[in-house]
Amino acid sequence: MKDVIAELELRRENARLGGGQRRVDAQHEKGKLTARERIEVLLDEGSFEEFDMFKQHRCTDFGMEKNHFPGDGVVTGWGTINGRIVYVFSKDFTVLGGSLSETHAQKITKIQDMALRNRAPVIGLFDAGGARIQEGVAALAGYGEVFQRNVLASGVIPQISVIMGPCAGGDVYSPAMTDFIFMVRDSSYMFVTGPDVVKTVTNETVTSEELGGASVHTVKSSVADGAFDNDVEALCQIRRLVDFLPASNTSDIPEIEVYDDPDRIEVSLDSLVPANPNKPYDMKELIEKFVDEGDFYEIQERYAANIITGFGRVEGRTVGIVANQPMVLAGVLDSDASRKAARFVRFCDCFSIPLVTFVDVPGFLPGTAQEYGGLIKHGAKLLFAYAEATVPKVTVITRKAYGGAYDVMSSKHIRGDINYAWPTAEIAVMGAKGAAEILYRSELSDADKIAERTKEYEDRFANPFIAAERGYIDEVIKPQSTRRRVSRALALLRTKKQENPWKKHDNIPL
Ligand code: HXC
Repeated sequence: MKDVIAELELRRENARLGGGQRRVDAQHEKGKLTARERIEVLLDEGSFEEFDMFKQHRCTDFGMEKNHFPGDGVVTGWGTINGRIVYVFSKDFTVLGGSLSETHAQKITKIQDMALRNRAPVIGLFDAGGARIQEGVAALAGYGEVFQRNVLASGVIPQISVIMGPCAGGDVYSPAMTDFIFMVRDSSYMFVTGPDVVKTVTNETVTSEELGGASVHTVKSSVADGAFDNDVEALCQIRRLVDFLPASNTSDIPEIEVYDDPDRIEVSLDSLVPANPNKPYDMKELIEKFVDEGDFYEIQERYAANIITGFGRVEGRTVGIVANQPMVLAGVLDSDASRKAARFVRFCDCFSIPLVTFVDVPGFLPGTAQEYGGLIKHGAKLLFAYAEATVPKVTVITRKAYGGAYDVMSSKHIRGDINYAWPTAEIAVMGAKGAAEILYRSELSDADKIAERTKEYEDRFANPFIAAERGYIDEVIKPQSTRRRVSRALALLRTKKQENPWKKHDNIPL
């Protein structure tokens, strides 16, 4: 027996070496951790249970019969994050560049199947060169199997992808179908076709970083939801994210112990909104003062910053926050902001995470660039997402809620459950000056007259009380008591039950 155990240990040790010390050293020289080291950081100490450590490919082409590595380029298994179960696969770049073979794919699909059956999140750590070139169509088939499972698991269990090295070809499409993608700055990049192919096809000369680095995908393309400085920071932040998420669409949202009074009054919020309606203020100040212990996990911080999305907690329970940001483009809704927020709202709705919406929006962004870019359909995505959502929805209008954007931002008319407004709220079809100029076009040449008309319109509509008279606003609240009022509303709505009519699925304007 002793010999057999010694043999097992030997085999394990060999498998743990991946592609060998030389390649492990090369990985470290690039500032990257190995697949197993990443898992160690991600999971609670000693909680990782590995599967298929000895699995090997069956390819015999291109000399592959002599090129075997136990584990075949991916480390898979499960473990816990702060005591809660997650399934993990971590691509091992030291083994054939982490490329995906038929058997490598089988290891991943085994994890995906188990996670879906047992209703727990899947986290994929990517560092790979795409399809195993020596395997051809067998590798493509493997990707297809992974993709199909991504789709079936979507909306049932959270799926998170972390890009920690190259990620090319088939390796980008599986992350693209997961809920969140995070990247590591300067060491990770994602693209469908790499710089060499780009040069051949379009004659463009670009570096990997310029084509698909973190600065591209978190700022320009919105493919990634966030980026971190190194592997360790990224993995620690994924642990923090998982703490906010339920295990599945049938699990309760997590509730953690917090030491922040839900009745906490924030007097400073009474002076957050400047007297001049055209002066910006930082909506993040409200968010940070509103959530438990100021702990806010922002999603897509660097993309479409005119809208803020992210997770916080109230009474220890996760909430999804959507807020217009007056500091960027006056908080206007454009195509990018609408798409960003719509995706976030739908994620929250999938996983029963209540939505808190802070509104200060001057409308949709006018202009040919927006209209040619499909603002109508993109704006409709956000409208659709809010309108179909059945989770508790609490809305607070802090200042402007103009035009169609008023309707879109979780208004009463699209099933906002509790809609509050600060006394500084202005709920109107448009800003007073614009309205006066349209209504009194014949007086346009007389600046005094227009100013008078603007004042008239302002006095009538630049307040929350007309909407409150109609019941579109449930209550006008003091800014300082926002946390208390919203946390009470969320507590009230814990038993909310609302269902949409049966359908195969909806047809959101993609
Ligand atoms: C087999 C691969 C591989 C692959 C890399 N390797 N990619 N082996 N199949 N796809 C191996 C290399 O031979 C090398 O082996 C080791 O991994 C490290 O690779 P290097 O090139 O030395 O590393 P580096 O310079 O860091 O470059 C990494 C890389 C590059 C950018 C990922 O290797 C690369 O461009 N690979 C090919 C990417 C690609 O075109 N993949 C196919 C995409 S098509 P040794 O033995 O030296 O350690 C695809 C279709 C699916 O994925 C579509 C589904 C929708």
